[in-house]
This record gives sequence, structure tokens and C-alpha cells, in this order.
Amino acid sequence: MIDRIISLFFILITTISVYASDPSPILKTGFNNEFLIGVAINRNQADGTDSKGQALILKNFNAITSEQDLKWGLIHPKPTIYSFSKADDYVNFGVQNNLFVVGHTLVWHSNAPAWIFVDDNGKGLTRDALLKRMEEHINTVVGRYKGKIAGWDVVNEAFEDNGTMRKSKWFQIIGEDYIEKAFEYAHNADPKVELYYNDYNLYLNAKRNAVIKLIQRLQAKKIPIHAVGEQAHYSLVIPTVQKIEECIKDFSKLGIKVNFTELDITALPNKKKEITAEVSKIVAYDPLYDPYKKGLPDSMLLKIAVRYGDIFRVFKENSSTIQRVTFWGLTDGNSWLNGWPMPGRTNYPLLFDRNYQPKLAILNAILKPIK
Ligand code: XIL
Repeated sequence: MIDRIISLFFILITTISVYASDPSPILKTGFNNEFLIGVAINRNQADGTDSKGQALILKNFNAITSEQDLKWGLIHPKPTIYSFSKADDYVNFGVQNNLFVVGHTLVWHSNAPAWIFVDDNGKGLTRDALLKRMEEHINTVVGRYKGKIAGWDVVNEAFEDNGTMRKSKWFQIIGEDYIEKAFEYAHNADPKVELYYNDYNLYLNAKRNAVIKLIQRLQAKKIPIHAVGEQAHYSLVIPTVQKIEECIKDFSKLGIKVNFTELDITALPNKKKEITAEVSKIVAYDPLYDPYKKGLPDSMLLKIAVRYGDIFRVFKENSSTIQRVTFWGLTDGNSWLNGWPMPGRTNYPLLFDRNYQPKLAILNAILKPIK
């Protein structure tokens, strides 16, 4: 309790003093010696339509992830049609500005058009035919951005929280080795690119253990994997910082890096008990669960700031294992959490407010030195 009060007090004081001297501390310079600091960007930010957003990204971040435009359904909407223009804008923006460019994502159960899994007559594909289709997609997309995209989320969300494999079409048709095949194809398409496995809730023991086994399997077969990505869609209390640290330590024992790839912190009440980031799980709007429509009280902002501060303390203490921390969106107005899991809410999970202003309480909590 005393710790919390001191922490709150510190944030208040530094917010006031920093505001007096520098209205906007620069995020990335605070982590130069620790890890890359990234942000998921949308197409308006990538092509400059949102010029304010673009400037803020360039000032504060040194890594980017495309929030949507590299997903299968967008980049490869029909069997013979690839739609590269938005993805090209994203990659060019990153390359021109010397940012670490992340590819998100190659193989996922979401945003996977139904045609992927059937032939021209609508008949389900065989294992071999689906593997061929997967390989063609990976070759085309990874090949196009070879030398430009620095790391790929090769497979996203292949496990359930209880550690069993998700019964996606990929799994049902190919079997559990679809993951290693995807890594193999990606490696062949660009032997120098980093390859990641990405998922949510890796702080849960069963799920983490399943991913550890996967990584060991890949390593035993000499299939490269450079890092595991914990998405990190967190709440004010879940997961505990102890669990986050456990996660970092367990993966580091395998000799790979850990990335926090989609960080955001919701302070809105959850209608359902289940903590997930499954994009298809949507509930109908209910004003009871949208308490800050007219604005976030300072008391709540401070709670979020303290929580961010606690989490970044763990990141900094383990920085030798962490390659990158990426926020899932630039401003609160950009956040997917306004639309998920309950469309129409007003959420405040990120570092910049709806007017592109830094939330200094949070920035200062994050930037606070650990010693
Ligand atoms: C989300 C985007 O932020 C939304 O704009 C989109 O409507 C759905 O997908 N896990 C992931 C991300 O790996 O790709 C998801 O992004 C959020 C959950």
C-alpha cells in the first residue's frame, strides 16, 4: 500500500515537473539501451493521411507492426489475387524511416478467408494441397518484403488456454505440424528474417508449457525461431507482474527472446469472466460497461499509469531477454478496444489521448528509472 502511494506521488510530481520543462518526453530514447519500442499502425498512419499520427510515431517509436494490412484476408483476398498496395505503403514507411518493421501475420485462424481451405468446387482441401497453398502464400508475401521486413509473426494463436491445440482449419486439415511447416517455408523464403510465434495469455501455465514444447520441437529439428511474442492485452489486475516475469524467465531458458507484441491495458469492466483476445468473441453494447464515455477520471488515469509502471519495471529488470515492446495502437482513438469485445465503447488503454497528446502520467511511469 505504502509502495502504491509513493508510486502515485512520484508520478504526480514528475508529471508536473516534466510538464514544466518538456511537455512531451520522447519515448524511444528512454529505452535505447533496453529494447525496441514499437507501435501497431493503421493505413492512414502508414501513408501519411494521418500526418499528426505519423509524426508522433516517428518521434516516439523505433519499431512498427501493421495492425491489419498484412493479414491473409487483406493481402491475399482471392486465390489468384494479391492486394499489396497498403502493405507496400506500410513497409516503405518503415524502411524509409529506418524503423524495425514487423510482419503480422502469416498463418492465423482469424482473417483467413474461407476459400483457403477448399478447392474450386468447394471441396475441402487435402493436407498436401493446403500445405502447397500455405507455402505459395508465404513465399509470395515473405519474398516480396525480403530484406525489408525484419521479423515475421509466422503463426498466431495456435493454442487454447488449456494448452491443447486450437482446432483451426489449419490444424484439422494439416495436423499439428502445420506450425513447423509454416516456419520452414518462411525461413526458406527469407533465410535472414527473424521468425516469431505469437499468442495471448502465455502467462497461463498450461498454454505457456505447450508453447515451450513447440519451441523445443522446432529447435530439435533445427527450424529457426527467434522469439516468442506475448500479445499482452492486459487489464489493471490480470496478469500479475509475477506471472509476467515467470513468462519471460521460462522462455529465456530456451535461448530465445521474448517480445511483448500487442500491449494495451483496459480499465473498462469486463462483462464476461473469460480473459481472452479472441477477436471473434463479441458481446452486444451495454452502457453499464461503458462508464467513461464522457472522460476518464484522473483517479483512473493514475491507476492505469501505476499499472503500466509496474509492468515496465519488470520489462526493464529483464531487458536482456526482451527484444521489443510494442503497443497495440498509437492513440486511444485508434485502439481496437473501443470496438472489442463490446463495440461502441470508449476506452483509454494507450499512451496518447484522442487529441494526440501524451498522457504524461503514463509516460512518466513507464520512463521512470528502476534504480
Ligand atoms: C485486431 C485489430 O486491432 C483490429 O483492428 C481488427 O479488427 C481485428 O484484429 N490479436 C492479434 C491482432 O493478433 O491481429 C488483433 O488485431 C488483436 C488480437
